[in-house]
Amino acid sequence: MGLVSMKNMLDQAKANKYAVGQFNINNLEFTQAIVEAAYEEKSPVIFGVSEGALKYMGLEFTVAMAKAAAEKYDLPIALHLDHGSSFAVIVQCIRAGFSSVMFDGSHYGLEENIALTKKVVEIAHNVGVSVEGELGTIGGVEDDLHVDDADAKFAKPEEAIYFWNETKVDALALAVGTAHGVYKGEPKIHYDIIKAVASKIDAPVVLHGGSGVPDQSIREAILHGAGKVNVNTENQVACTETLRSILLKDSKVIDPRKYMGPAREAMKNVVKNKIRLFGSNAKI
Ligand code: 13P
Repeated sequence: MGLVSMKNMLDQAKANKYAVGQFNINNLEFTQAIVEAAYEEKSPVIFGVSEGALKYMGLEFTVAMAKAAAEKYDLPIALHLDHGSSFAVIVQCIRAGFSSVMFDGSHYGLEENIALTKKVVEIAHNVGVSVEGELGTIGGVEDDLHVDDADAKFAKPEEAIYFWNETKVDALALAVGTAHGVYKGEPKIHYDIIKAVASKIDAPVVLHGGSGVPDQSIREAILHGAGKVNVNTENQVACTETLRSILLKDSKVIDPRKYMGPAREAMKNVVKNKIRLFGSNAKI
């Protein structure tokens, strides 16, 4: 199967009250861990690619890895640009074979965010590519995006509903209390915002910053209308801690397969557990 847009998998998720996971890829081992977990759990999955990861892996390698994964495992997989910052990078990704893009216009005023997102939706939908938009300011650190907690602003439900009616994005990321990266305390999620918006629009709400959120909070967010949950940091931690412990135990290891293999297994475990938590297992 070739790469697919997020549209169908997210429609199914919203209708049946589960969420599809976006797991960010940073190299070959992340890609393999995620697709193997999805295959074993019989789940659709979304490969998220930040602009930083795109620079690191290269556009051609990124698309080739994702396509190879979708073909080898015959799974519905979307290759999705995470927090696309400009029209230029979005067009470049679509041309190269991405099946989904996020335009993050959350730092613009509402009307400008709508106008820019609309432009992205127009070109993307024309070629069957799905689009995620964003409203409010999600806190934390992801690549070059740094938002202090004091600057994080929750999305306003009435603005989010208006944004969706104007843009018709396929998924809507809202700032509701989660943050990218490692949490200092327990995040306080505003389920009321998710519910108020998800009950009035056709698309699911996207929960960014899915790492480190207690399982029960994730379940509740999904119940209130979150149909896509993004995870990156937990896989980074699993990967790095595994290889750090192997290298610290044995200073003679030089074969990367001896530490990257176990790191890949650790990430696969994280992804399998998240897929079951999100409820997207046994859906294909
Ligand atoms: P975490 O790194 O906190 O899991 O967030 C991932 C994310 O939201 C990607 O957009």
